[in-house]
Amino acid sequence: MTHPDAAATLRPTADAAPVLRVDDLHVRFRIPGGVLRAVDGVSFAVQHGETLGLVGESGSGKSTLGHLALGFFAPTAGTVRYRGADLRRLGRAERHRFRREVQAIPQDPFASYNPFYLVEHALEVPLRRFGLARNRGACRRMIEEACAGVGLNPGDTLGRYPHQLSGGQRQRLMVARALLLQPRLLIADEPVSMIDASLRATILGNIAELNRRHGIGILYITHDLTTAYHIADAVVVLYRGHVVEFGPTESVIAAPSHPYTQLLIDSIPWPDLARSWGSLPLRTAVVDASDHAGGCPFRARCPVASPVCAQAPTLREAAAGHAVSCHLFDTQPPLDGAEQSALLRQPYRAGNSHQRPEGASDTLAAASEGTKP
Ligand SMILES: Nc1ncnc2c1ncn2[C@@H]1O[C@H](COP(=O)(O)OP(=O)(O)OP(=O)(O)O)[C@@H](O)[C@H]1O
Ligand code: SF4
Ligand SMILES: [Mg+2]
Repeated sequence: MTHPDAAATLRPTADAAPVLRVDDLHVRFRIPGGVLRAVDGVSFAVQHGETLGLVGESGSGKSTLGHLALGFFAPTAGTVRYRGADLRRLGRAERHRFRREVQAIPQDPFASYNPFYLVEHALEVPLRRFGLARNRGACRRMIEEACAGVGLNPGDTLGRYPHQLSGGQRQRLMVARALLLQPRLLIADEPVSMIDASLRATILGNIAELNRRHGIGILYITHDLTTAYHIADAVVVLYRGHVVEFGPTESVIAAPSHPYTQLLIDSIPWPDLARSWGSLPLRTAVVDASDHAGGCPFRARCPVASPVCAQAPTLREAAAGHAVSCHLFDTQPPLDGAEQSALLRQPYRAGNSHQRPEGASDTLAAASEGTKP
């Protein structure tokens, strides 16, 4: 799948700045009846060659953060930096480079195709725009190789219109497109959500290989902790636009500290129905966007909420490199802005050994049988 011209321009970088860094991001959307805080003070960083998982349930703000990282729109407040440069201050040439080096696997693959063009158009355009193929023949060969790399038969796939492919086939072509362009940063938003289990391992393997061989940073967005467990070096757990927990993948998943993370792990299908991570009677509830104003965003669903939870908790280090935002950890010293940033920016590459410790990660390993890249 690697074209020599493309590979020559992309080597693991020695940049000091993280490939992506976001600081204190806020996004507010106007909605009927008020304002929705989709993202509320989120900071994290993706280092070169590192995969950061952004996990949380539907509506927690994952795709919004992915769109901010892609520069689709500007945050209400806060900064997004690509290799140290503020996205709002990129000049014309830098923006062109950014478009070349930052690629996405979108959550809704249909929206990425022009319905009036054959599907290969979506791959040809960037190859031509960024001068990655020497001629039409090379372009065609690269596209066919990319298709084969994600398990698509080029003869059955190319020459068709987007509506003539299944959702999974469209998504696989988007994965092929991202891998073909060999970015420095990949924003992968639920990249295997429409792909059946038998192919997930291959696709995740392709993404992991890109990461390992070329030092590409990946922001892996998912509601599925099982795939995050296998692919991510570190995870950030989001709840309603807030970071509630983050740290090395093994640490967060083997010892989830926040009641919400425990809920996420507890809700993974487990072969032994009698087994769960803990005994907390966590509730799923429809909560109003404004009902946490000033307090913990999780308190309407939290079984251990207490009066102090009417005050917003702050991030505290629960274990080495592992932070949690919950009053249960008020005995730990709070992380000031600088400490939080340092923790969020530390490299986690060594953190995910993919060994299976006792406890919760057994649940993940069992539930994701066959997904390990
Ligand atoms: N353009 C918009 N205008 C108004 N509200 C929006 C807009 N985009 C997103 N939202 C809202 O912001 C919140 C976060 O949306 P987002 O798409 O980021 O969630 P998500 O975590 O990606 O969810 P999912 O797992 O379902 O994809 C949701 O409540 C959503 O309805
Ligand atoms: S701060 Fe309170 S409501 Fe929020 S998760 Fe912790 S215990 Fe539950
Ligand atoms: Mg989404």
